[in-house]
Amino acid sequence: MNYSQILGTGGYLPSRELTNHQLATQIGSSHEWIVERTGIHSRRLAAPEEGTCDLALQAATQALQAANCPAEELDLIVLATTTPDMIYPSTACLLQARLGNQGAAAFDVQAVCSGFIYALTIADKFIKTGAAQRALVVGADTYSRLLDWEDRRTCVLFGDGAGACVLGPSDRPGILATRLHADGAHQHKLKVPGMVAAGQLQNGDGYTKMAGQEVFKFAVKALSEVVEEVLSAQHLPKESVDWLIPHQANLRIIEATAKKLKIPMEKVIVTLAQQGNTSAASIPLALNQAVRDGRIRPQQTLLLEAVGGGFTWGAVLMKY
Ligand SMILES: CC(C)(COP(=O)(O)OP(=O)(O)OC[C@H]1O[C@@H](n2cnc3c(N)ncnc32)[C@H](O)[C@@H]1OP(=O)(O)O)[C@@H](O)C(=O)NCCC(=O)NCCS
Repeated sequence: MNYSQILGTGGYLPSRELTNHQLATQIGSSHEWIVERTGIHSRRLAAPEEGTCDLALQAATQALQAANCPAEELDLIVLATTTPDMIYPSTACLLQARLGNQGAAAFDVQAVCSGFIYALTIADKFIKTGAAQRALVVGADTYSRLLDWEDRRTCVLFGDGAGACVLGPSDRPGILATRLHADGAHQHKLKVPGMVAAGQLQNGDGYTKMAGQEVFKFAVKALSEVVEEVLSAQHLPKESVDWLIPHQANLRIIEATAKKLKIPMEKVIVTLAQQGNTSAASIPLALNQAVRDGRIRPQQTLLLEAVGGGFTWGAVLMKY
């Protein structure tokens, strides 16, 4: 066994839709402004009683079915989220109980919008070293709960959702190369500064603060560099990539990165128009959609990349 391989994928979006038209009038914006600057038309919002674990459960159940893997067989659960249902236990442990699994290692990863790339990289190492045989990797966020709905600079960008995949060992090529990076010097450019102490929220509020243009510039540079890193680690040319699956933050970031890499947009999976930025869920949701609609086929070369608060960023190069 030399590789970890994706055995099945799943995804879930809450049913409640919030269109630009519904949102724009409340915040002094317009559908046209939002589409032109972001490519987003609408987003899904979790129902008041729906938590991150509820979304994760739907996506995980679908991925386990696709992988033909009973939940009892999982020996690792890695869940990426910035919006856990509670401080602890981790959402991974809450999900484990809902799935009916006992004994698997289970933990959350907090790398904001790069969370799924971090989680997949960690699970890949467990499988490759033989420390796990069946890993569930989930990206799930109810990011809408971190938004100030009066701040038009941020509230138009995000939505809620969950995506998942099951990984197992394989002799044929699966995950080929991974790279993770972070630079905490950029912490003030994208953050939710609130924290809980003495039973109360401290450090201001629990809403997203963002320097949009700085995030934009950093994202395009960091993403194109990390993509080059994973490709050169495998001595593969860009032309060998069948599908680029970027974090779905902003269509202009996706287009600028693809242009810098000279990857045509026909080879880029884009889902953000109807979903917005679903944070850690965006890449597994895009992956799942393209697997289920037949665009992604076995042994095609996939390139996944993301950037998020921290800043954190990373890429995964794989054969599907
Ligand atoms: C957020 C973003 C779309 C804003 O676009 P921008 O071109 O940078 O716009 P600016 O923030 O410079 O604001 C320009 C003007 O548009 C206004 N504006 C901002 N949001 C608006 C909205 N939703 N509707 C209408 N006007 C808006 C601003 O108030 C500003 O007006 P002012 O000059 O009168 O103050 C863009 O910066 C972006 O996408 N950045 C990356 C964000 C991201 O991806 N974050 C997640 C990373 S994981």
